[in-house]
Amino acid sequence: MTKRIAVVPGDGIGPEVIDAGMRVLEKLNGERNLGLAFTRFNWSADEYLRTGVSMPPGAMDDIRVNYDAVYLGAFGDPRIPDMKHAADILLGMRFELDLYVNYRPVKLLSDRLSPLKDKGMREIDFVIFRENTEGAYVGMGGNFKKGTQDEIAVQEDVSTRRGVERIIRYAFDFARRMGRKSVCMADKNNVMRFGGDLWLRTFEEVAAEYPDVEHFHLFVDALTMQLVRAPEMFEVIVTNNMFGDIVTDLGAALQGGLGMAASGNLHPGRVSLFEPIHGSAPKYTGQNVANPIGAILSAAMMLEYLGFGEECAAIERAVVAAIEAGETTKEIGGSLGTKAAGEAILRRLEG
Ligand SMILES: NC(=O)c1ccc[n+]([C@@H]2O[C@H](COP(=O)([O-])OP(=O)(O)OC[C@H]3O[C@@H](n4cnc5c(N)ncnc54)[C@H](O)[C@@H]3O)[C@@H](O)[C@H]2O)c1
Repeated sequence: MTKRIAVVPGDGIGPEVIDAGMRVLEKLNGERNLGLAFTRFNWSADEYLRTGVSMPPGAMDDIRVNYDAVYLGAFGDPRIPDMKHAADILLGMRFELDLYVNYRPVKLLSDRLSPLKDKGMREIDFVIFRENTEGAYVGMGGNFKKGTQDEIAVQEDVSTRRGVERIIRYAFDFARRMGRKSVCMADKNNVMRFGGDLWLRTFEEVAAEYPDVEHFHLFVDALTMQLVRAPEMFEVIVTNNMFGDIVTDLGAALQGGLGMAASGNLHPGRVSLFEPIHGSAPKYTGQNVANPIGAILSAAMMLEYLGFGEECAAIERAVVAAIEAGETTKEIGGSLGTKAAGEAILRRLEG
């Protein structure tokens, strides 16, 4: 059965790293007859500036109805300071396709890349689930007396029982399915009393249905401290949209940097979106220096989601082998450009 994939390279270094990921996907697709069909969409800052349109009418429905996955690079361009096109396309897909699970594995692939003294691959291996459709990102709020000395700004942080329960349940299901021992929920219920109370009550209620999985709660400030002090404490972490946004960047640093980190934006059973967590890194655009590993590991996650677990594992093995050989981009200790670093992985991929 054909799996249809929308490829959206986006802005800045997005197209360069997605090209590297596509070479890996196309090789596996050709050699193993995976039945993947790719359609490229050049929605981007350039297109938006040229036409005034971020995503053509009907495009979101087309993705929803006709595709199994979206493979995306990055969005953001200094010429569009309000990020209108990025909000329409990336946040638009997260919200309108109801991609409520932000799935962020934090796995150190080589002891050499650890930024922490005495912490290596054994200690840094956990997963963060960030709620992806609610919280402070829903855009509720407003200004009063804007531009005056009396200005007031209100930014709402929205949690719904349904939204909180489904992400917490996903985290427990994942822990059970993958044999992970514990789930940690992080919030700030000592000051965010109402939302925090909903998160904590829901967490305890769902946890009671999973007696085989341990559970514990931390305030998010304590979580950030423990992630650096003792990352081995964690197997699965679940948290809200904003705390997840922050903590996943800390997770990327523990993996060796933003260029190493992959993510999935999922709605189980429906079209889901896979992207490296880094942005468009404008200063690196077109310079052949961006690390393609985050994009290549995002392609691997997408394959796993589409039912190709063995191909996902094969990509991960090839990435690890390239890192071990030192055939990487400069910021993780190698001397290669984006293209050559991608080829170093491609060469190690078993057909
Ligand atoms: N998902 C997304 O599309 C996304 C995510 C974050 C930021 N952004 C947008 O990207 C633009 C730039 O944002 P930023 O500079 O804060 O974040 P960024 O992730 O683009 O880059 C921050 C720094 O991280 C490093 N880096 C990032 N990706 C790398 C890679 N593949 N290889 C090597 N080093 C890498 C570089 O030093 C870079 O300067 C902004 O417009 C921002 O809004 C988009």
